[in-house]
Amino acid sequence: MNFIITGASSGIGYQTALAIANDKRHTIIAVSRNKEKLDALSIEAKIVNPNSNLIPLVYDISPDIENNDLLVFAKKELGNVDVLINNAGLLINKPFKELTISDFESVYKINVFGVVKTIQSLLPVMGNPNTHIVNIGSIGGVEGSMKFKGLSAYSSSKGALAILTECMAEEFKEMNISVNYLALGSVQTEMFSEAFPGSRAQVKPKDMAKYIVEFAINGADFMNGKIIQVSKSTP
Ligand SMILES: NC(=O)c1ccc[n+]([C@@H]2O[C@H](COP(=O)([O-])OP(=O)(O)OC[C@H]3O[C@@H](n4cnc5c(N)ncnc54)[C@H](OP(=O)(O)O)[C@@H]3O)[C@@H](O)[C@H]2O)c1
Repeated sequence: MNFIITGASSGIGYQTALAIANDKRHTIIAVSRNKEKLDALSIEAKIVNPNSNLIPLVYDISPDIENNDLLVFAKKELGNVDVLINNAGLLINKPFKELTISDFESVYKINVFGVVKTIQSLLPVMGNPNTHIVNIGSIGGVEGSMKFKGLSAYSSSKGALAILTECMAEEFKEMNISVNYLALGSVQTEMFSEAFPGSRAQVKPKDMAKYIVEFAINGADFMNGKIIQVSKSTP
């Protein structure tokens, strides 16, 4: 299968890219803004599996950067995309009264508009039977879940992404594209440390990656437009 994952330079995205590359039947474009970290990922992928097909791409998903590099690269390297994992994310931890509109814009630009930009860019190379878009959301973006101080911008952006997932699933039905949302609980990464300084998450990125890969490959057989909670930590 042909995969694209954003946010592959660290945390959950890094381990997910590595897990996909571990199967030589798959080809994966691993996206982030950081060339050095992507190079490290490519090297590790080859060590784990010398036959791996992991192709790094330095690319910014922010809508501030206007170009069609992602589509051109995907066409050239993959031809068609079977699975897109929108994993890149940004978290700002600040009390609501200190959050500026610019903070909200920064977070929404990556967590919502960046996903919109990525999907719109790649639609021309999607549409094989069972194409799957997996949006990596947060348990904090689910209505009725426990909320945490300082995460208004982040959690509300993930809430917007959840509804967007349901809307896109409806619109893409005729195009053979399923869209689902994984509402992750806490995973031990840099972002988790930013959100909860001094705390330890119950799940390691490598373990969460296994779940995401399995879901990305098989989830579209059973689900479309679904918000799935993947959390041990919060109700
Ligand atoms: N860790 C948790 O507890 C947790 C819980 C719920 C949901 N999540 C979600 O899981 C996803 C991964 O989070 P993580 O914890 O693994 O975070 P992380 O370690 O901070 O990784 C974030 C990734 O996003 C990428 N990114 C940020 N801005 C980007 C941009 N403009 N263009 C391209 N890539 C960009 C970063 O790459 P560069 O900086 O190299 O570009 C990095 O690879 C996020 O969507 C997050 O919201 C995490």
